[in-house]
Amino acid sequence: MTVAHIRQKFLEFFQQKGHTIIPSASLIPENDPTVLFTTAGMHPLVPYLLGEKHPGGKRLVSVQKCLRTDDIEEVGDNRHLTFFEMLGNWSLGDYFKREAIEWSFEFLTDPTWLGIDPTRLFVTVFEGDQDAPRDEESIGIWQTLFLNRAKIRAEVGERIGLYPKKKNWWGPAGQTGPCGPDTEIFYDTGRAHDPAFGLKCHQNCDCGRFVEIWNNVFMEYEKQEDGTFKPLQQKNVDTGMGLERIAAVMQNVPTVFDTEIFQNIFNKIEVLSGKRYTSETERPFRIIADHIRAAVFIIGDQHGVSPSNVGQGYIVRRLLRRAIREGRRLGIKEPLTHQIALVIIGEFGTHYQELETNLVRIVSELKQEEQKFEKTLEKGMKEFKKILIEPIDNLVKNEQKHLTGEQAFMLFSTYGFPWELTEEILREHGIMVDRKAFEKEFKKHQELSRTASAGKFKGGLADHSVETTRLHTATHLLHRALKNVLGDHVEQKGSNITAERLRFDFSHPMKVTVEQLKQVEDMVNDIIQQDLPVRFEEMTVEEAKKRGAIGLFEEKYGEKIKVYFIGNDATDFSKEICGGPHVTHTGELGSFKIQKEEAVSAGVRRIKATLS
Ligand code: SER
Repeated sequence: MTVAHIRQKFLEFFQQKGHTIIPSASLIPENDPTVLFTTAGMHPLVPYLLGEKHPGGKRLVSVQKCLRTDDIEEVGDNRHLTFFEMLGNWSLGDYFKREAIEWSFEFLTDPTWLGIDPTRLFVTVFEGDQDAPRDEESIGIWQTLFLNRAKIRAEVGERIGLYPKKKNWWGPAGQTGPCGPDTEIFYDTGRAHDPAFGLKCHQNCDCGRFVEIWNNVFMEYEKQEDGTFKPLQQKNVDTGMGLERIAAVMQNVPTVFDTEIFQNIFNKIEVLSGKRYTSETERPFRIIADHIRAAVFIIGDQHGVSPSNVGQGYIVRRLLRRAIREGRRLGIKEPLTHQIALVIIGEFGTHYQELETNLVRIVSELKQEEQKFEKTLEKGMKEFKKILIEPIDNLVKNEQKHLTGEQAFMLFSTYGFPWELTEEILREHGIMVDRKAFEKEFKKHQELSRTASAGKFKGGLADHSVETTRLHTATHLLHRALKNVLGDHVEQKGSNITAERLRFDFSHPMKVTVEQLKQVEDMVNDIIQQDLPVRFEEMTVEEAKKRGAIGLFEEKYGEKIKVYFIGNDATDFSKEICGGPHVTHTGELGSFKIQKEEAVSAGVRRIKATLS
């Protein structure tokens, strides 16, 4: 069953159940500054989920273009994609749990539709907590369905798994808006459980045996500013099924990358690289195909965006640059992105007409962007060689043939140069780098710094671009200033940095007053104006604690960690555990401005701030 066939069956099924077919909205959300891209079919429907009337009525069905960049590092495994298509049906205050669950089951298992063997289906339901009770109704509906339609006794804790909010609750994370418990449907691939993932396999196990195919969200609540959940007047259903995943199930192939969607793209990469798609090369092949597909859809969108250094344009740039780098690794010397784009447009242009309409623009944008990147790389390479001469000479002098993970990470974090190129240049000088050790080091620092942000890439040049580095140092100053002004109870709860702004979540029981915000802002600007030095020292956790450093202490006794100091030795303004990188003097930060202060959840506040 091809994806075209699945799309059509889904729309037809729900049309027969009284739903109006609505077209895919743009990938670039309108009037919604909280996200860069449409991440789910419900996204463009938020006003209607909150009660506004939809011209299509109370029952809607769509195939929506979606993009999620928080899973970017997972691309290359067997199920993660950045761009994907989501099949979804909605009830706007009309039907609720019973119909939604029954129709999902019917569409999946009835031979007229997908005809999946029901013994392969496993589900999960919300287990309940202080905000909302255990979803008994859904449990009951599933049990009856399995028993009556498939003679299967579905036990709770077995075929029906119970999970907390983290797994079975849906709503825009950390934001206000419609949300509620969900019930997810998994397909049992029948693969053996990988013992590396714990003793017992279950629906949400990471071993790959169970694949989540469909999510039914019951939007009964609206999350408030203060973190509480208010029952919604209008109870909605919001469902989402990943087209690529259900295609893999229907085509009986092990991964989304083995569906027909990617075959022509892979053929093209094979021709360009002269390499076959095998278990050895699958990772770069998958990354190239996924990233260029996403870039084509963003550039070719009805509200198309070009590669740039800000917002959505920045994501397109990163996607393309990552794909080009992987292409180089595969040995592709010629410009590849527009050639692969043509195959993608051929594949998807029938269903997504905008790609055909914008073909000329897509190709020319890609060509330009690839040329630009080649130039940057050439220039960067020269600089990098200059910078590296001394360390390389030292290594050669000491007859050190291996670079330790820590040394490799230092090069990366100091100069922000792509890891692959570091490896390439060192190899030219006969020095080997242990990639595993580098990755271990990288992870360690990532956990410590916690600044790698959702919606952005971890690794590569721009993460350590001047802007993010400056904002990172500003985050330390803000953290300290908040403690000074509000009290020592203030603790970091989250941090996210984009090229434009920092976002800092911290514990504090009430709204921060305008005066307090002003005090914090002035304090940070004062430190900036003093142009204090920023430096780090490596020490054990115990020592860091003794010296009064703040930050995330991990229980890694004995191991060395980095502590960043801002200020003059005796009177450091800030001491914080962190992987870096940071600016060398606070004067580099310019001027600090708090843009917004708001609630994230009970007892957690969020500040967004910028530098100019
Ligand atoms: N909004 C839910 C999801 O994205 C269901 O569509 O999973």
